[in-house]
Parts: sequence; structure tokens; C-alpha cells
Amino acid sequence: MKFPVAPIEAMTPVRVGVFDSGVGGLSVLRELRRQLPGAALHYVADAGHAPYGERSDEHVVTRSRRVVSHLMEGGAQVIVIACNTATAVASHLLREAWPETPFIGVEPGIKPALLATLNGRIGVMATRATLGSEKFQRLAAALVTREALHLRACDGLAAAIEHGLLDNPEMLTLVETHCAALREQGVDTVVLGCTHYTFVRQHIQAAMGAAVHIVDTAEAVARHAADTTVRKTRPDVADTPGHSTLLTLQTTGDAARFQRFAHAWLGLETAVRRVVI
Ligand code: DGL
Repeated sequence: MKFPVAPIEAMTPVRVGVFDSGVGGLSVLRELRRQLPGAALHYVADAGHAPYGERSDEHVVTRSRRVVSHLMEGGAQVIVIACNTATAVASHLLREAWPETPFIGVEPGIKPALLATLNGRIGVMATRATLGSEKFQRLAAALVTREALHLRACDGLAAAIEHGLLDNPEMLTLVETHCAALREQGVDTVVLGCTHYTFVRQHIQAAMGAAVHIVDTAEAVARHAADTTVRKTRPDVADTPGHSTLLTLQTTGDAARFQRFAHAWLGLETAVRRVVI
């Protein structure tokens, strides 16, 4: 009697590359660990070249290409762009450059916001580059008809979060400045259109008021990454119980700072390696 032998690729964990300009994508990574417990996750924080959202499109495209090349060299089979700015500015070019590789991006959650709003006034907090991108403008034009979108380019916010002082008075002032502009417009729903903003979600909620609905897409993106790509090609990946423990964390910036964030956010002490890409 002959027993079937599983092909070798079905036994090695699927390798998922994840990147952001810094710590923002950790919110997506945390969810990916839950959704894809059998996967090997490789995260790169491009903090040495951040913030993306206040730099030229050319900078974002060049950096995204470099980081993706690095992830590919590490064996990534799927790429999750855990950054709204890189998705808005560079994802079409990355897909063109690596046509065989599935890319999952993240974009401001306009659709869930349209379902949540009662008064038709939606605030979108995102980087200047995201809001100014053709991709975002097209998304907004396609989805929004009667409702009003109030766009707030939150200059300085991602950089301040990256710096790590999440609860200091300067941070609260910065959050208040950006939120005050949206409060004045009477929005009842606010979209967090930058993965970094999750880290100050509680301050945004406090500044906007408890009744305002906050839309954050980190979890939805991770679910989408799991459902549409990896789970279809590798059903075994989702069947393993627990959290993914095969984790590689790298940064082009300050490793100790990134490690503190990763520890607080993911609850584990995985060593962070600084890389030059
Ligand atoms: N976390 C990124 C995003 O989702 C951008 C932050 C930055 O400006 O670097 O847009």
C-alpha cells in the first residue's frame, strides 16, 4: 500500500511579509498573528525613512520597492502593505513590479463609515499623501454621494506616535488640534486612515466625544489578508490553533524603541534587528 506524501511546500509555513513606515502596521500584525497562526510573519518598520505621509510620492515609491525587495529576498510569498500611504501611492507599482505576488493593502475605511454614520458627516484622519493621492480621491468619489467627507491631513501625528510618547501633553495637544477641526464640522464618525493612529485611538475618542464612532480597519485588513489570499492557497495555515510564533521583526530605525512598541502591542519579547535596506 502506498501512502500519499504531502508536497514539501505544503509542510513549510507560508511566509507573509508585512511593512509600514514604522510601528503603525503592528496593529495589523497583531491581528495577522491571530488570523494566521501557522504562518511565518516577517515585519519591516521603515522608521529610518519615515514619515512617509509628509514626503514626496517618489520617496514613498522608492522606499516601498526597497522594502518589498528585502521581504522577497527573505522568502515572502504574500505581502501585506500595512500602511495607508504606501498603499495609496505605491501599491499599483508594486503589483506591476511583482505580478506573481499577492499584495494586500490598507485604505481608509470609507465603506464602514458610510454604514455607521447617522448624520452623513464623516471625518477622515490620514496623512497628507494619502488624502492627496489619486487612489483615495477615486475611492471617495466612487463611494460618497449624499454624505459629506471632512478630510483632515494630520501633519506631525504619525511622527509623534513613532517617537513613542503617546500620553505626554504635546501628544494630547496635537490630537486635540486635529480633532477640533473635525468637531467643528459636526462629524459623527471618524475614520482612522493611517495605521499609526490606532496607538492614540483612546485620545482621539476622548477629544471627539464618546458618541462619535471610530472606524479602524486594521482588523478587517488582516482578515482580508487571511481570507482572500493565504487561506485559499494554504488552508492548513488557518487550522493551527493559537498565535503565530514564527515572527521576524526588523526596523531601519531605532531597534530599542521599536522593541518597546512591539512588546507593549504584541505582548512578546521577540528580538528586533536593525537592518540597512
Ligand atoms: N502608517 C502610515 C499610514 O498608514 C503612515 C505614517 C507615515 O506618515 O509614515 O499611512
